[in-house]
Amino acid sequence: MKTALTLTVNGIAYEVEVEPERSLLTALREDVGLTGTKEGCDDSECGACMVLLDGRPLNSCSYLALQAGGRQVTTVEGLAEDGELHPLQRILLEEFGVQCGFCTPGMLISSKALLDENPHPTEEEVRLALGGNLCRCTGYQKIVRAVMRAAEEVSAGA
Ligand code: FES
Ligand code: FES
Repeated sequence: MKTALTLTVNGIAYEVEVEPERSLLTALREDVGLTGTKEGCDDSECGACMVLLDGRPLNSCSYLALQAGGRQVTTVEGLAEDGELHPLQRILLEEFGVQCGFCTPGMLISSKALLDENPHPTEEEVRLALGGNLCRCTGYQKIVRAVMRAAEEVSAGA
């Protein structure tokens, strides 16, 4: 049996109806229609499905949609502002940190959570923050470099 639920995603309230076992990931992609968040392993291993819940990163494949009611969900679609890519997005492209792109939404979400909490991370802290995000393409170095550059730019503009 389905239950009515209000999901607030990127500041917009969506009225959906979900089964009790529906994951937040599936609700975002299929009920809300935001497909930026990716399904990789569906088992809390790869980080492709990562979103922010009240500002904290979590794997949405392993979280029930019903548990997100009344909370603030941020997906990769919520990072750009006024039609401008977030510096993390722009610099990740500039540094060639996007190849197949499957890990990218999760990488961006983890990086955003890191910079919100720690505007001046060391390289080690960046690597630690991205520890739950697997990338099979880039070798990570370009992504780490992009996050370090974005941190400089964001904190310089803050
Ligand atoms: S799809 Fe959720 S962690 Fe891999
Ligand atoms: S860019 Fe392909 S998995 Fe990371």
